[in-house]
Amino acid sequence: MTKTLLILPGDGIGPEVAAEAVKIVNWLRAHRGFDVAVSEDLLGGASIDVHGVPLTDAALEKARAADAVLMGSVGGPKWAGQPYDKRPEAGLLRLRKDLDLFANLRPAICFPALADSSTLKREVVEGLDLLFVRELTGGVYFGTPRGIEDLGNGERRGVNTQVYTTSEIHRVARVAFELARKRRNTVHSAEKHNVMESGLLWKEEVQKLHDAEYADVRLEHILADNCAMQLVRAPKQFDVILTDNLFGDILSDQAAMLTGSLGMLPSASLGAKDPVTGKQPALYEPIHGSAPDIAGKGVANPCATILSLAMCLRFSFDRGEDADRLEAAVAQTLADGIRTPDIWVEGCRKVGTAEMGDAILKRLAA
Ligand code: IPM
Ligand code: MG
Repeated sequence: MTKTLLILPGDGIGPEVAAEAVKIVNWLRAHRGFDVAVSEDLLGGASIDVHGVPLTDAALEKARAADAVLMGSVGGPKWAGQPYDKRPEAGLLRLRKDLDLFANLRPAICFPALADSSTLKREVVEGLDLLFVRELTGGVYFGTPRGIEDLGNGERRGVNTQVYTTSEIHRVARVAFELARKRRNTVHSAEKHNVMESGLLWKEEVQKLHDAEYADVRLEHILADNCAMQLVRAPKQFDVILTDNLFGDILSDQAAMLTGSLGMLPSASLGAKDPVTGKQPALYEPIHGSAPDIAGKGVANPCATILSLAMCLRFSFDRGEDADRLEAAVAQTLADGIRTPDIWVEGCRKVGTAEMGDAILKRLAA
């Protein structure tokens, strides 16, 4: 049966980078027997402009039915003044929540050719290969009560709630332990148990699950602030970093700079496999935002989206070989010295989004 892939280009540079991934999908269909039906829909501000909401029920159902969803990015100053439920980001959060995509995998790999593009010294980042497992459907992003309240005396009060349950912690920790077993067998679990009850629960439950089922994996607990510091001091000590929704958002942006650019980091957001059909809901997205400052200029780096497509091929379409080849094509293109402005250094050729995509495709086809 033909598989289905839904593309949600979104806002800002989203459509530009998504277009490069689509070029590659079409090439795989034509030359590698990738039997997939591709459709597109609106997400974020693009959907607000047409439908008045950041994600329509119809688009959500399409995403639910698809074998995988690949998105660009959402958000922008145009929609910034709206209440939270009418903002572009709410569409993405609804997609994550309603498809129950609780495990967000964010690999941070420093390609050899980019070791000098990082703001950190070459020896600190060269050979870096770490993986964030970020909890994605709980924590302070979704906890209630939330809101801004008028206290009536000229004061206002803003509230968000950080909340986790045992099962939410266990299911994401399980993903981290399983992945660590296939890597260098180490998990660092980051939280703030020194000041937060939810952090203490996180630490205790991760330890319990470890002792019961994953005692063969090395587990270290690390305070999230110390983790932030260690990420720039000695990032190669990490293999898998397991953390909650908010810390994962922050720490993964920070880790992106170890790889040279925010434009390099892909991600996969996965739900639980259906025990009967084996289908696993999955959303693939670059971790970068919509970059309104460079949107429409054709200079955005499409690598994070193309690498997200590679993850998609591997996890959702069982096409590991194509994924490996695509990742190698990105590495080779970088080694060829072809660079978008964000990763450009003296002596390299500066290209735009489409030219970068074409160069990667040429390497893939070679
Ligand atoms: C990310 C982004 C999102 C998040 C925004 C766009 C809602 O920053 O995927 O890291 O905060 O999760
Ligand atoms: Mg983020």
